[in-house]
Amino acid sequence: MSSTSLKSRASSISEPLRVAVLVSGSGSNLQVLIDAMQAGELPIEIVGVISNREDAYAITRATDADIPVVVLSHVASGKRMGIKTFETHASAQLQDWQPDLIVLAGFMRVLSSNFIHHAIAPMINLHPSLLPAYKGLDTHQRVIQAGERHHGCSIHVVTAELDAGAVLTRALLEVNLKDTADSLQVRVQKLEHQLLPWTILLLAKGVLTLNTDSSDDANYLPALPLTLHIDQ
Ligand code: GAR
Repeated sequence: MSSTSLKSRASSISEPLRVAVLVSGSGSNLQVLIDAMQAGELPIEIVGVISNREDAYAITRATDADIPVVVLSHVASGKRMGIKTFETHASAQLQDWQPDLIVLAGFMRVLSSNFIHHAIAPMINLHPSLLPAYKGLDTHQRVIQAGERHHGCSIHVVTAELDAGAVLTRALLEVNLKDTADSLQVRVQKLEHQLLPWTILLLAKGVLTLNTDSSDDANYLPALPLTLHIDQ
């Protein structure tokens, strides 16, 4: 299924959504998707995982679940793999897997606009802040330093500009006086573990569409972002 057919997802809802996941680290969000898929709670098939780090624990999680994994290490035999080489291999692998959706779940390499524009499927990214605030790195520390009262996580469409594509969903929490960057990371990750499967469920069910073409009345796009308020 191409990005065009994800736009008209409502018509093919009985098929599981084919999802490819790109990771760089622990993969706790990948694990949540695996668990929900295996429990029959999420109508998806994780068709493959790409890691840009060979030491990512996410690889173990995918392997344990019998999901194909490809490691395109950013450093191989002491040599750094350039982003172009990474993208060439990743594109070929994604072509092979034919995903409907590509999910960046803790994927920490910046992708080129060429790769994003020519991707076989739409791409969404999980980001640890209430976008459009706090794009980029060290979000928890920056939130504490700024004395923010609210923080959280967002899922947005990946575009060439970093963390700047349309925000689909967000989950938010209140920052406590005793919070540190570390405690916020733990609290925000708990939100991510609910926000990511919820967002993918909305996409899989055709409730949320990535079609932003307003001339297409058949694809109603709700006011975005949809926001989860979760007591912690
Ligand atoms: C997540 O907290 C995610 O928000 C963050 O990486 C973590 C990965 O955790 N992503 C970014 O910072 C992207 N800019 P996980 O590997 O345990 O899922």
